[in-house]
Amino acid sequence: MKPQTNILFVCLGNICRSPMAEYIMRHKIKQAHLEDRVSIDSAGTSGWHDGEDMHKDTKKQLAKHQIDHFGFISRKVRKQDWDYFDYIIAMDNQNLKDLERLFGKNTEKLFNVTSLCPDLAYDHIPDPWYTGNFDETYQLLDQCCDVMLEKLTR
Ligand code: 4NP
Repeated sequence: MKPQTNILFVCLGNICRSPMAEYIMRHKIKQAHLEDRVSIDSAGTSGWHDGEDMHKDTKKQLAKHQIDHFGFISRKVRKQDWDYFDYIIAMDNQNLKDLERLFGKNTEKLFNVTSLCPDLAYDHIPDPWYTGNFDETYQLLDQCCDVMLEKLTR
């Protein structure tokens, strides 16, 4: 692993899926004692919720799994994110398309989170803003983050 690896999770609103991925992944990184070597952040392609906290049901879901949910501030993806982050990980195909339009294609650095877990029932993380199913979001992201941790420590 590089001395410092920076990971950015990206969804549309940056209040439901990517904050959940951010906090789950940070939790796993802490459990693996890698917090000095891996930093995690998240952002949205839309900027619609800039400055807001994460969705209350994302918080509830994290709390249910004894994962911290404090100190979050939603933000939009920035041009400079490309140079800073080693991995930029999208929640669905539209996020990926929007990011590729902004940054160009680079399958090593920029990919869909579900590509980490090809055996899942989905090729994207269904948006709980529309489905209301935050349990499903958690279950899917937890599996993808396990594989991301494995990828980092390999
Ligand atoms: P997220 O979900 O992309 O997982 O944060 C959404 C949050 C807000 C909206 C859409 C999706 N919205 O339309 O405001």
